Amino acid sequence: MTPDALRSLEIPGLARFESGPGGLTRLAVTTPLAEAHVCLHGGHVTHFQPRGQSPVLFLSARSFFENGRPIRGGVPVCFPWFGPRAGQPDAPAHGFARLLPWEVESLSIDGEHIVLAVLRLAANDETRAHWPHDFVLRHHIVIGQRLTMMLEVENTSREPFTYEAALHTYLAVADARAATITGLENAPYRDKTDGLQTKVQPAEPLRFTGETDRMFENTRATCTLHDSAGARRITVEKSGSATTVVWNPWIEKSAAMKDFADDEWPRMACIETANAGTDAITLAPGAKHAMRAVLSVGK
Ligand code: BG6
Repeated sequence: MTPDALRSLEIPGLARFESGPGGLTRLAVTTPLAEAHVCLHGGHVTHFQPRGQSPVLFLSARSFFENGRPIRGGVPVCFPWFGPRAGQPDAPAHGFARLLPWEVESLSIDGEHIVLAVLRLAANDETRAHWPHDFVLRHHIVIGQRLTMMLEVENTSREPFTYEAALHTYLAVADARAATITGLENAPYRDKTDGLQTKVQPAEPLRFTGETDRMFENTRATCTLHDSAGARRITVEKSGSATTVVWNPWIEKSAAMKDFADDEWPRMACIETANAGTDAITLAPGAKHAMRAVLSVGK
């Protein structure tokens, strides 16, 4: 989109477009309720901070901010597959949506001081090189005291297609070792750190005691991150999503990631709102499906 086209969408005093890290264009929202940044690269929310709070999203100091590479932190949009693509090790991890520039479909005020941005990514030659289907993605981002993200997928092909998707949310936490997650008690999960074996979360809050990469299928529960070192909790409420993924890379995996500092792992915990694995979605031609995550902060 041209700078003029973007400028014409701005909301004076509340939402404007600016050049962010790496020269990538981002939407900067500053309202009496919150501050947020949304990078058009990847349709990626990189920052959200309600007034009076510290940032809710973790963003790595080592992240790349480059076309064609994912941003490490914030909320990457994973589509149309989650993790590595089955049978295609060279395909980009978590799909192509987080690697491509998105357009801004609209920017508006919804109620008092709540900013609503709708970003759009439609199938093009680059996406068809990876995945043959036609689609339109719309990412509705509502910035108020809470952050609401709704990823809508529309099948604009003549055939049905099946996809996976995630709002891969990196939550900021004062110390992951002291944090717990409630909402997944007794839920079965596949352990990605242990050959995808199926296990069951005990009847107690989830704690991070080592590399954690758990894919909970068939769960629609609200999850709460209790950040005891930070004296707050962050709640992730969702709809249209049957998968929740909990991830923390811990020590060794952090050291192996180029775009993540070795000492950053205690400051993040991913609670990902997804439809993946056995919860992949099949859409008929012309059909739409929406998945929503709402992040709120409390004491
Ligand atoms: C999580 C996956 O969702 O994302 C992990 O469950 C993966 O297995 C992590 O390591 C980060 O992925 P990436 O591609 O952003 O490094």
